[in-house]
Amino acid sequence: SDPGEFAGLLSAGDRDDLLRLGRRRRWPAGATLFSEGDRSTTVVLVLSGRAKVFSLTEQGGEVLLAIRGPGALLGEMSALDGAPRSASVSALEPLDTYVVTVTSFLQFLNSHPDAAVRIVRMIVSRLRDADRKRVEFGTYDTLGRVALRLAELAERFGASQDDAVRITLPLTQDELAAWTGSSRESVTKALRVLRRQNIIETSRRSVTVIDLDRLRARAK
Ligand code: CMP
Repeated sequence: SDPGEFAGLLSAGDRDDLLRLGRRRRWPAGATLFSEGDRSTTVVLVLSGRAKVFSLTEQGGEVLLAIRGPGALLGEMSALDGAPRSASVSALEPLDTYVVTVTSFLQFLNSHPDAAVRIVRMIVSRLRDADRKRVEFGTYDTLGRVALRLAELAERFGASQDDAVRITLPLTQDELAAWTGSSRESVTKALRVLRRQNIIETSRRSVTVIDLDRLRARAK
């Protein structure tokens, strides 16, 4: 098997053992991997491409929970607790993945304790993040939060070019608003400020970070 960019979470040996249990699957941009509330039968390892994790509110609005890239393990939550899918996941761009059944995944964890501990660690780090975000939401203004989220995404996914980190994210202002816990109007204003200062460029469905250092300086 070609592990592609899949790396980081598991040791190379454990990763190969897990990939051997799976089936390679490619997904086109926009494809739905999981729908919130569905019964779970699989976990998905992302080799390349980015996926968004989101939840729908009762009013039908979309709350963006995370963007996951190469190396991500998706679907582990319901595989571990047997509850329905906690969120929906869709492909932001074409994805190359391995799909492993829940049964095989649980057997793998039983026979690979080091991998199990690493996965627990990954989930704990997400809980810390969620705690931190709750505190931020109560404390900081929209401009700081938008700058912080964009800087985090640029650091994780951006490719450096000269002094600038150019990263283009297919995000709408509604998605950014949901992600930063702000109204769409205040996100629009925050983006306008960052754009006027030549820190970002925006178009209808994307944000490009052109000056990561100055973006970071605005992040709170
Ligand atoms: P599961 O609940 O099976 O299906 C949805 C998946 O989205 C979930 O497993 C996780 O893999 C992923 N997910 C849910 N919430 C988050 C989050 N806050 N951050 C990152 N990934 C998440």
